[in-house]
Amino acid sequence: MKRSSAQPVFVVDFGAQYAQLIARRVREHHVYSEIVPHQISAAEVRDRNPSALILSGGPKSVNAPGAPRLDPEIYELGIPILGICYGAQLLARELGGEVVPNEAGEYGRTALSTVAPNSSLLLETLPGELQVWMSHFDSIAQAPTGSRVLASSPGSLVGAFEDRERRICGVQFHPEVSHCDFGPEVISNFLFQLADVDKNWTNFTIIEDALESIRSQVGSGRVICALSGGVDSSVAAALVHEAVGDQLTCIFVDTGLMRSGEAASVEATFRDRFAIDLISVDASERFLAALAGVTDPEAKRKIIGETFIRVFEEHRTSVEGAKFLVQGTLYPDVIESGTKDAAKIKSHHNVGGLPEDMAFDLVEPLRSLFKDEVRAIGSELGLPDSIVWRQPFPGPGLGVRIIGEVTAERAETLRQADRIVAEEIEHAGLTRQLWQSFAILAANLRTVGVMGDERTYGYPIIIRAVTSEDAMTADWARLPYELIERISSRVIAEVPDVNRVALDVTSKPPGTIEWE
Ligand code: XMP
Repeated sequence: MKRSSAQPVFVVDFGAQYAQLIARRVREHHVYSEIVPHQISAAEVRDRNPSALILSGGPKSVNAPGAPRLDPEIYELGIPILGICYGAQLLARELGGEVVPNEAGEYGRTALSTVAPNSSLLLETLPGELQVWMSHFDSIAQAPTGSRVLASSPGSLVGAFEDRERRICGVQFHPEVSHCDFGPEVISNFLFQLADVDKNWTNFTIIEDALESIRSQVGSGRVICALSGGVDSSVAAALVHEAVGDQLTCIFVDTGLMRSGEAASVEATFRDRFAIDLISVDASERFLAALAGVTDPEAKRKIIGETFIRVFEEHRTSVEGAKFLVQGTLYPDVIESGTKDAAKIKSHHNVGGLPEDMAFDLVEPLRSLFKDEVRAIGSELGLPDSIVWRQPFPGPGLGVRIIGEVTAERAETLRQADRIVAEEIEHAGLTRQLWQSFAILAANLRTVGVMGDERTYGYPIIIRAVTSEDAMTADWARLPYELIERISSRVIAEVPDVNRVALDVTSKPPGTIEWE
């Protein structure tokens, strides 16, 4: 997809944990933002013409040898700049101020006093005393030449500064984190008071931009989409259909490892409601046959991934002359794969993640979007809440939630238990608050119980419910006892072969969200 036509705010990444969060906060003010690496050259910045720059925090000391810097010519381009934490210290160091090591540093909630009378643009409307979020060891001893000090805290002589003339400012604290008082006001003051940027990012402009770029990429070519039933591929398909109508054919492969009602809901939504040309393939027997006797998690993942590709390959040839393939890649995936070099814990199989040697041009209409934006667009395009708000589901599906061998009976057992968990979580109004909540079947384990005077010897179901921002870390959800009780009694009463329910109380790390 070509770049958005909206003039961006660049979030310059100095290795912060929070660069994504800053970009999202800017977009929440309806301004398009993109994360760029700190190595970006002045020439590229000039070419791409951002309306403002926000320099992120970072783990290094600006005074350390080899600390990341910005091409110095960028400061001369006249583009408004906000520095946050490391970014603010860098501005101080590069533009005539001074940064010194602190004895103790400041971490977490910290009291900030703004300098009265507060006539700055950046901190306009803020009270004299507030609680901000700090995380730094160095501090700014002297603000850049020509700028005014706007605030201080016990460990930061210069807690914020502003040079109105040059439209350059900095804050030692983190206005992007949710526990920082008045964080949104600081970001909004920078964007609209100091930098005077335009609001150019609404659901309407996002959709218009996406439709235009899909049409210009695809022309009159035929497009196929591997639809998984998840949010991303569903919204991508709906967008492409809106853009090029009948030129799109979707292929949905039922692996036999989907959640309860998923296949039917995909068909009802896409074929019946959107009238999208949908090839629905029931390949469950083939998947189950390939998985027979396999218990190793990585082997299961591999088999499911490969079988998916084979099935997809066989059916895509029925779409004559298709040149384009839709993928629901999101902005965080793009940044991740460009910047991170993380250890492999599990081989992820995206249902859309087809091999590169397929002769397709990729259409990735969600490439510049965050998940919440994708959901908003999905709703705008008329997708039902049951799809838009569906929790993430792994490509290998129930296959990695059945511990031990996967069989048709076990998949059905788990599907029923999982449906009960989903129903009760929904009934308690918790679906959207939880990152994921689902059931796991420990099919390699049986325990003794007693039901109606009879001895039972059945499988346990484990409830897994987590809160998370991005699945990189997660905490186990503190579900109400009454809810756990309802799930437990229903699962045991309604699902044959299950005689015990347990709750997983492991965070990530050290656990992962899925069990395999
Ligand atoms: P873990 O278990 O690694 O999962 O903590 C992190 C997130 O990724 C999802 N997940 C997958 N998603 N293909 C996917 O598309 C996969 O193979 C896969 N494995 C795990 C998981 O549900 C969680 O949201």
